[in-house]
Amino acid sequence: MSKAAAPPGKMLRHPAILRLIHWTHTAVTLLLALTGFYLGRPFLPPHLLRVAHVRLTHLTFATPFIATALLHLVYSLVSGSWHDLLPDRRDWRTAGCLLRYELLLAGEAPMHGKYHLLQKLLYLSFLPAVLIQGATGWALASHSTWSGSLFIRLAGDLQRVRLIHHFVALYLIATVTLHFYRVLSEPGMLVAMVTGWAAAVPPAGTPEEKATRPPHLR
Ligand code: HEM
Ligand code: HEM
Repeated sequence: MSKAAAPPGKMLRHPAILRLIHWTHTAVTLLLALTGFYLGRPFLPPHLLRVAHVRLTHLTFATPFIATALLHLVYSLVSGSWHDLLPDRRDWRTAGCLLRYELLLAGEAPMHGKYHLLQKLLYLSFLPAVLIQGATGWALASHSTWSGSLFIRLAGDLQRVRLIHHFVALYLIATVTLHFYRVLSEPGMLVAMVTGWAAAVPPAGTPEEKATRPPHLR
């Protein structure tokens, strides 16, 4: 949607393509987590749910899992939104204040761009996590191919590959839960990732904008 179509007092925080990528990736990750943990410990009798079917579902969703992550990477590079994701000098300088805010020891987060340092580090960590999950998953699925056996040799043995796949699955579940909790605890954040719109930030230096800053930065 164009800038002119913004409702009064609103600005476009997340373009439609980013929202589409984000929610597709979320749905696929949840499906992979559910089917993956079932594969690790199947608990239903085969006449109710066949492990082979769950395995096929798990492998089917592997492709959109990798594809959406790569699409997100390409989108960030092409649109320039990677600037929102890379920590800058101000982020590192104000890291202490941010930690105090996250630990509920301070009432205001330090000034930051679209995302603050911890969000940026978390979002950036998803890319290697997805790639490691893809490589270990591929090795588990097809250990006899040259690329599968290469990943197994890199990891040590098949058991180590399975352990890494499990570890990254747990990392994703733990961090996405944390991400979900933080998103719900900041007003308007979830709505913005659904509709695209967030409250507009007033132009820098105006009294309205200064009123949104922490008191010592006004
Ligand atoms: C490109 C993505 C992925 C591929 C190719 C892949 C592939 C596989 C394969 C082939 C297996 C072994 C199935 C079997 O035992 O026959 C497996 C197991 C598993 N996957 Fe994935 N997977 C992917 C992503 C994920 C994700 C995102 C999660 C969780 C968030 C996940 C969680 C698990 C778990 C927990 C197991 C059970 C491991 C075990 O105990 O042996 N996988 N996966
Ligand atoms: C429980 C499901 C989820 C919810 C409710 C959720 C919600 C959100 C929201 C509201 C934002 C925008 C934050 C802001 O405006 O400051 C966001 C951003 C983001 N989320 Fe999620 N998310 C979920 C799952 C995931 C998953 C599974 C991943 C990846 C593994 C993920 C990766 C990201 C990334 C990378 C961004 C930054 C996007 C960018 O600007 O490029 N999210 N999420």
